[in-house]
Amino acid sequence: MSQFWKPGTEKPRLVDDEEGGVLFLTSSSSSGYGYASIEKQRQRLPVYKYRTAILYLVESHATTIVVGETGSGKTTQIPQYLKEAGWAEGGRVIACTQPRRLAVQAVASRVAEEMGVKLGEEVGYTIRFEDATNPGTTVIKFLTDGVLLREMMGDPLLTKYSVVMVDEAHERSISTDIVLGLLKKIQRRRSDLRLIISSATIEAKSMSDFFQPSSRRHRGSESVEPGLKMEPAILSVEGRGFNVQIHYLEEPVSDYVRAAVSTVLLIHDKEPFGDILVFLTGEEDIEAAVKQLTDDIQDRKISSGLIVLPLYSGLPRAEQDLIFSPTSRGKRKVVISTNIAETSLTLEGVVYLIDSGFSKQQFYNPITDIENLVVAPISQASARQRAGRAGRVRPGKCYRLYTEEYFLKEMSAQGIPEIQRSNLVSCIIQLKALGIDNILGFDWPASPSPESMIRALEILYSLEVLDDDAKLISPVGFHVAEIPLEPMISKMILSSNQLGCSEEILTISAVLSVQSIWVTGRGVRKEFDEAKMRFAAAEGDHVTFLNVYKGFLESGKSSNWCYKNYINYHAMKKVVEIREQLQRIAQRLGIDLKSCEGNLQAVRKAVTAGFFANACRLEPYSHNGMYKTLRASQEVYIHPSSVLFRVNPKWVLYQSIVSTDRRYMRNVISIEPSWLTEVAPHFYQKQGL
Ligand code: CDP
Ligand code: MG
Repeated sequence: MSQFWKPGTEKPRLVDDEEGGVLFLTSSSSSGYGYASIEKQRQRLPVYKYRTAILYLVESHATTIVVGETGSGKTTQIPQYLKEAGWAEGGRVIACTQPRRLAVQAVASRVAEEMGVKLGEEVGYTIRFEDATNPGTTVIKFLTDGVLLREMMGDPLLTKYSVVMVDEAHERSISTDIVLGLLKKIQRRRSDLRLIISSATIEAKSMSDFFQPSSRRHRGSESVEPGLKMEPAILSVEGRGFNVQIHYLEEPVSDYVRAAVSTVLLIHDKEPFGDILVFLTGEEDIEAAVKQLTDDIQDRKISSGLIVLPLYSGLPRAEQDLIFSPTSRGKRKVVISTNIAETSLTLEGVVYLIDSGFSKQQFYNPITDIENLVVAPISQASARQRAGRAGRVRPGKCYRLYTEEYFLKEMSAQGIPEIQRSNLVSCIIQLKALGIDNILGFDWPASPSPESMIRALEILYSLEVLDDDAKLISPVGFHVAEIPLEPMISKMILSSNQLGCSEEILTISAVLSVQSIWVTGRGVRKEFDEAKMRFAAAEGDHVTFLNVYKGFLESGKSSNWCYKNYINYHAMKKVVEIREQLQRIAQRLGIDLKSCEGNLQAVRKAVTAGFFANACRLEPYSHNGMYKTLRASQEVYIHPSSVLFRVNPKWVLYQSIVSTDRRYMRNVISIEPSWLTEVAPHFYQKQGL
């Protein structure tokens, strides 16, 4: 191991905390927590010592910023403290937002367990397409920040909430930033509302500056509670992480999946017990690593005691639960995760950490209008967060799959807020629906670029949801905003009404809302391709989805049928659920549920009405399937997972782009070019089509 790894020169950030050490000495194994009563466990958390202070600050300040290392108890404890102190009395509700859906479910179920109540009653959660709350009894509600944004459309002052805790603020997700901007506005009108902003890193200063009352606000706020301080309070929860020894690679590696797998095996061979957490980037490389590890273990015929578990969003509930269950004696758990385990979720018992140095990040270029999900280097701040995950129960070790020089010279100090690297179409339509017309003047925690804003306004204008004054057109604009999907999908649904194919388009929309309905990681590529060909439609992926959905219903929603056809059963069940919800929303918006009875042209036109901005044309004389986007002449290719891969129709539309060695279009459908000017004259006439 010593030739391969080099200890880092950087001083470990996390230092032994005396009290922490004492507290954990009694934990005999990695899952030592299992022995204490829930009440004891709660009192052991670092945040417990600050209970009174937190409650006092929330009482006396409009905004309280709580900074504390991941795992110190912010998310699971603070909402309970608030409830115990009476903030949920008189029909009021305590809200706690999370950027990630999976985290919402996990923390809600943990808090319900701690309080000894049934999830969905006193403690509930809401994520898109799933509401596990009871309006009569729920007093602590976990939700994504995206869902909170949607709730503002119905209740702009969020009147039912007494406290809103915006959690994981350091992640700077796009919805968190918008929610913060809006909450600041709401506070001016509702001085009884308390905000808690919680964050794992000490970027509290910029948050605090953001919430400083401006002179303008002083004038505006007539109804301030006596004695209430408008300046934000900052409280820092002392962590109790143990020392984490950092090791770097001596030489860079090109295949981080392979490197991660061999590091897991090395640790397992050489190091004492303790769980391993590996950070990779997404479902594909995580499943690849799981497979390599399982194969390697079989090849070596080790009776390994190694339990390999993937962790990414979209994972079925049952598998998620395994991640949190304590490891039994003599076994070692390896969790291979996306950056969800960086700060949103805490896994007890992790002693070894393997950091690939990458995560999947969204990047948007307003000039080319291409939004790209790419595997990109993480920041130094993220790398430190990741390392800290290994110091929960005893001193840990972190193996970085990159060199120290790379860490110091190539990695940026902080990540870029998502709002500065995203397409703003969804965000702007929501602000407009909330009556915020002056988007440029909105109080953003971090301003998006003017180019992105203009591009988004242009697209909304061409979708015919904004008028010449950039105001939402009634009712279309409000309907598009109300459907909890990206505006292009919402527009497609609305257009399907006139085209008489809403049944089909609702199915397609539901499929586009799940990650993938195919199972790619299993078996031989050729078998998978053959299975897919059973459903493939010449028109493209969207029509293929209709065939899969039909087959699934005809099979009686059989998991066996899915297995045989390389279809993800859990994804299909989700599709059925989402479709039911979309159908309800569509009916509410007055859309007739009608099938086009096989008239696929209607379906393709409806897709075009939503996604015309993503039109591409095959390059004449192209031998390698190169397309150019009509908007900005960018080079793109059909993704190998598409049924149109190698078919290469002349004109296509895509739903999204992923970049690896090339820019690939995902979910592709063939179209007629004349439809473009038909459905989006504003957009395409000036392009001289
Ligand atoms: O929010 P913060 O990172 O400060 O901590 P937390 O999520 O409230 O976690 C506090 C403790 O609860 C940690 O020791 C977690 O391991 C534990 N926890 C758990 O065992 N299961 C969960 N689903 C969530 C938290
Ligand atoms: Mg948390």
